[in-house]
Amino acid sequence: MTPTKGIVLAGGSGTRLYPMTAAFSKQLQPVYDKPMIYYPLSTLLMAGIADILIISTPHDTPVFQRLLGDGSRLGISITYAVQDEPRGIADAFRVGRDFLGTSPVCLILGDNIFYGKLDFLREAIASNVGATIFGYPVTDPERYGVVEIDAAGTVVSIEEKPPSPRSDLAIPGLYVYGPDVVDIAASLTPGKRGELEITDVHRVYLDQGRLSVRQLGRGIAWLDTGTPDSMLDAGVFIHAIEKRQGLKIGCLEEVAWRQGFLDREGFRAAVTALPKGDYRRYCERLLERS
Ligand code: DAU
Repeated sequence: MTPTKGIVLAGGSGTRLYPMTAAFSKQLQPVYDKPMIYYPLSTLLMAGIADILIISTPHDTPVFQRLLGDGSRLGISITYAVQDEPRGIADAFRVGRDFLGTSPVCLILGDNIFYGKLDFLREAIASNVGATIFGYPVTDPERYGVVEIDAAGTVVSIEEKPPSPRSDLAIPGLYVYGPDVVDIAASLTPGKRGELEITDVHRVYLDQGRLSVRQLGRGIAWLDTGTPDSMLDAGVFIHAIEKRQGLKIGCLEEVAWRQGFLDREGFRAAVTALPKGDYRRYCERLLERS
């Protein structure tokens, strides 16, 4: 089976967070002790994905490159592509066409943070036929893509930010597709907002009877970063768990090691290259205890 590749979509205009985003993008902002993109990137790593494309703006792509490099220090491959205009989430498959080739793909939005037992993603990747999306109960579904399902768990409808949602299941920015997503995205025309809508991609799979949804339960936290308030809440959440457990969430070096992308020596080398500080000390403690 061709290994699934990963895309982190980390562009967009970020206007809703102005002036935080005036100089650099949302996905580079701190969420407690790490840049936001560390969290979605670590989600892909935890699902076993080691070949990742980061898509961002012409202005921010060099900053991501400086932050993350080519991934070799993590035992993975990270490449970059520029989206010159925010043409929509589904544009990721046009920008990423050459990178994807004939591989299946897991797309994560660079501002989506997951915490908890993430086996669901690995399972979704292993069993995907067509496309798999997730449904997460929220109190404010009108702010998101919304999926309606029947008693058997089959998708009945999907809508983008409906004023009167038909269910309370929001669709997180984490999606799994077969290789045909590239052709489906290529066939789309921009929607009302002038963007290539991810919901339109899902409608094609739905019409073909090849869209699955998996409901995420209470054991998973999907954190919002859409407003200054929710960003602060996300940071407070990460802080509370890290402080209580003494374990970091989204520490890329640690995840790469635990996933086997780095062996012990590789991890040691990655840690040695880190500047002195709390983050490095945390990694050194992991080495001492192992
Ligand atoms: O967070 C989950 C939600 O993400 C889903 O429930 C929605 O169905 C989905 O449309 C999306 O909603 P948002 O309102 O968050 O979409 P937004 O346009 O803000 O874009 C989401 C992220 O993708 C954001 O971090 C910026 C990035 N992006 C967006 C567009 C439109 C790009 O990199 N390029 C783009 O062209």
